[in-house]
Amino acid sequence: MRPFIAGNWKMNNGPIRGKAFFEEIKEFPREKAQVVIFPPFPTLPQVKELAERKAIALGGQNLYWREKGAFTGEVSAEMLVEAGADFVLVGHSERRNIFGETDELINLKLKAALKWGLKPVLCVGEHLGEREEGRTMEKIKFQLDADLSGIDPHRLIIAYEPIWAIGTGKNATPDQAEEVHAFIKEYLGNIKVLYGGSVKPENAFSLMKQPHIDGVLVGGASLKPDSFYDIIMAGVKAFEEKG
Ligand code: PGA
Repeated sequence: MRPFIAGNWKMNNGPIRGKAFFEEIKEFPREKAQVVIFPPFPTLPQVKELAERKAIALGGQNLYWREKGAFTGEVSAEMLVEAGADFVLVGHSERRNIFGETDELINLKLKAALKWGLKPVLCVGEHLGEREEGRTMEKIKFQLDADLSGIDPHRLIIAYEPIWAIGTGKNATPDQAEEVHAFIKEYLGNIKVLYGGSVKPENAFSLMKQPHIDGVLVGGASLKPDSFYDIIMAGVKAFEEKG
């Protein structure tokens, strides 16, 4: 087993900064970690070759489910594949909360991604109020049921991202994350589940040391080659210790 370390650049690192990142990031031991970066669309094809040299795969941050046509501003699964993506984020909380994506739309996007051979990383997570009211598992179960309707969960990766922990500097404790990861795996079977939400070099090891945490989805701390490399190496160490 090796950790799965993903970096979600969000609306950061255009082609110029993106290329510099891949030139600067240190080589990690390839057989010991699986690493993926999700750059903005214009950056993706520009960094494909550089990323390959560093054994880093690429993914899109979003897609539209239709194949082509009059959908101004949207990008299809086929276009992502053509641009060099192997993965795609679906249902990130920013897509859900800022852009109003519904579970129905997310379900269609997952189906389109799978049809074109992209591996989706489906993001789920609860709001602070839902956690405080003890409704975390209920919320996760609702999202999984709705998003995965008609889909074999073994075909994708899940990222558990508590919304109150994203970009706030307030990560879930390893125990809080572990509890939800164990629940997701019990509910869906043994599939990869990543933790996301304020992952940093300082907390990456203790999170990935948990038995049901298979890796991390990193936002802010994935923008700089040094901090992202440190997170990769924290994962390598945690998985060596987990055995
Ligand atoms: P963060 O973002 O690491 O900056 O909290 C995580 C995410 O949104 O995927």
